Amino acid sequence: MTLDLASLKQSIEHALSQHLPATSDIAPALVDAMRYAALGGGKRLRPMFTCAAATALGGNLDKALPAACAVELVHTYSLVHDDLPAMDDDELRHGKPATHIAHGEANAILAGDALLTLAFELLTELPGLTPNQRLACVRTLAAAAGWQGMVGGQVLDMALPEHASARVDQRCLEALHAAKTGRLIRASVLMGGQVAGAALPVLEQLETFADAVGLAFQVRDDVLDVTGTTEELGKPAGSDIQGNKHTFVQLLGVEGANRYADELLQRALDALTGLTLAHDGLQQLANRAVNRSY
Ligand code: IPE
Ligand code: IPE
Ligand code: MG
Ligand code: MG
Ligand code: MG
Repeated sequence: MTLDLASLKQSIEHALSQHLPATSDIAPALVDAMRYAALGGGKRLRPMFTCAAATALGGNLDKALPAACAVELVHTYSLVHDDLPAMDDDELRHGKPATHIAHGEANAILAGDALLTLAFELLTELPGLTPNQRLACVRTLAAAAGWQGMVGGQVLDMALPEHASARVDQRCLEALHAAKTGRLIRASVLMGGQVAGAALPVLEQLETFADAVGLAFQVRDDVLDVTGTTEELGKPAGSDIQGNKHTFVQLLGVEGANRYADELLQRALDALTGLTLAHDGLQQLANRAVNRSY
């Protein structure tokens, strides 16, 4: 069966809007910045992975949606902070001024903080799950977002240029990409499995799938930074070169990096072999994550 990704994306955007605060007595400017960052576009790949994993394994979409929103809120916060002058110093996101340009730097930092904490509030209230299942989701997302995951990876991403003369090998770059991007994609898929009550061997297969997709996704992101235009990407093309970043394009060239992304995609699809899935959503999303033009 085919999963309708367009309608899934709509359900996610509706749920996101519902879960974000609409107004605040004490900090309306904060709420404006949070909504600007979270509702201003984006492919919504991570929350779609959560919902697709849950429903492919027989879980209920309504149970998966709040967990999916939690992942997207963490992802949004990571982009808001990633664009700050202290980090990538990029002024454009989703074809619009980045949050710190539109709402000021302090509000952007604080909106990021508030999006991160809101994500965990959502997880503590996941509907129809046992306290232990909620706790498992909290742990999955916290570990992916924090010092061993996205945040740690962002530090490594910024620290490496200082050693630009040192050779960065493929293993080092894979570790960087796995932390800054892969871990959150892994969490997206795993939380779908956790919401659906999947058994450990199934979760392990999902993890192998997600890790290959996550790496392929960031390899492709590195390629697009070089081959895409700012207009197509909705974010500044050439940002990695500008920031002296170590990327897979630098290591393997555009063709080599594309070949590697294709190889990883195949590895991901192979990891699903033997699972009984209600639809092809995970396969579709893996293809979309790798074969994209923005
Ligand atoms: C961008 O992720 C940041 C990376 C980890 C490369 P996406 O390309 O998924 O961002 P949006 O949400 O679709 O804009
Ligand atoms: C960012 O990677 C990954 C995050 C944790 C946000 P990039 O810096 O390559 O993401 P883009 O290209 O700005 O979207
Ligand atoms: Mg960055
Ligand atoms: Mg960036
Ligand atoms: Mg990038």
